[in-house]
Amino acid sequence: QQVQGTLAAEAARKECFGVFCTTYDLEALASGEVFGQDQPIALKLLGSERSLQALEGVAMELEDSLYPLLREVSIGIDPYVIFEDADWALLIGAKPRGPGVERAALLDINGQIFAEQGKALNAVASRNVKVIVVGNPCNTNALICLKNAPNLPAKNFHALTRLDENRAKCQLALKAGVFYDKISNMTIWGNHSTTQVPDFLNAKINGRPVKEVIKDTKWLEEDFTITVQKRGGVLIQKWGRSSAASTAVSIVDAMRSLVTPTPEGDWFSTGVYTTGNPYGIAEDIVFSMPCRSKGGGDYELVKDVAMDDFLWGRIKKSEAELIAEKKCVAHLTGEGNAFCD
Ligand code: LMR
Repeated sequence: QQVQGTLAAEAARKECFGVFCTTYDLEALASGEVFGQDQPIALKLLGSERSLQALEGVAMELEDSLYPLLREVSIGIDPYVIFEDADWALLIGAKPRGPGVERAALLDINGQIFAEQGKALNAVASRNVKVIVVGNPCNTNALICLKNAPNLPAKNFHALTRLDENRAKCQLALKAGVFYDKISNMTIWGNHSTTQVPDFLNAKINGRPVKEVIKDTKWLEEDFTITVQKRGGVLIQKWGRSSAASTAVSIVDAMRSLVTPTPEGDWFSTGVYTTGNPYGIAEDIVFSMPCRSKGGGDYELVKDVAMDDFLWGRIKKSEAELIAEKKCVAHLTGEGNAFCD
């Protein structure tokens, strides 16, 4: 049977928890959780020289699991080989943030990786490849990646903000005393950072506006917003390392949302290229916004969302942060000399 889908994923560059994060995703993909039970897949795993041996172990695990849909596992350290004909690319490997390290400090260190990978995708991936950038700072890394891949549609590059969406749904569900599947229309606007905006104006609980169910506006504007914004950093402080299991789940959720038609009336969040956005957000950055999919990996922005002063004010802060990050990586996007505030 012909292998129709090729998925290039990075494994093992994020140390042991990176392997954990990625193997969960690989297992979910190999067992049909994302693309369905009738879609065979080929997995190509990109590592580094240092991680190659660990990668061999990951490949052995996958082979020995006899997943019926998994028709090929290959590993390597050359992105120009591994990304060849890839239909999906999960870019996870990057230097992770440790306790007390701000994401901006990673801009330069990690940016180079995504410039190289963008070039390789541009050269050899499927012309319709969908790219999900997970390594932080993921919005700006996604921008770097797409700028280095001018022959691929910029629309197909995503920064993972599904983890933030899941965190926001969890907090609202806990507060309202409902199961998390009762939360819908949850948008994360902006950067995957502490300026991100979990949108409680448009989100719903059991189909009702959040503000009708949770009447404590102070809690929504302060506790809820700050908890979601800082969740990743607090987890690092407590655990001594970056989130792994919840990130892995959210990668699968993000892919599934793109390949499955979005339920009527709902939407999901993903960080996408802003050029042509209907909200008035600055063009030429990667910003998380509400999207809907008709299936097949393509999506459109949701246009009929409400705005108020609180929401717009917060969106502008996240926009300003991303514009500053973009200036700081100008040398990696081919737009002149870098200028960091
Ligand atoms: C998270 O949100 O858990 C991570 O992206 C945090 C980080 O900087 O690694």
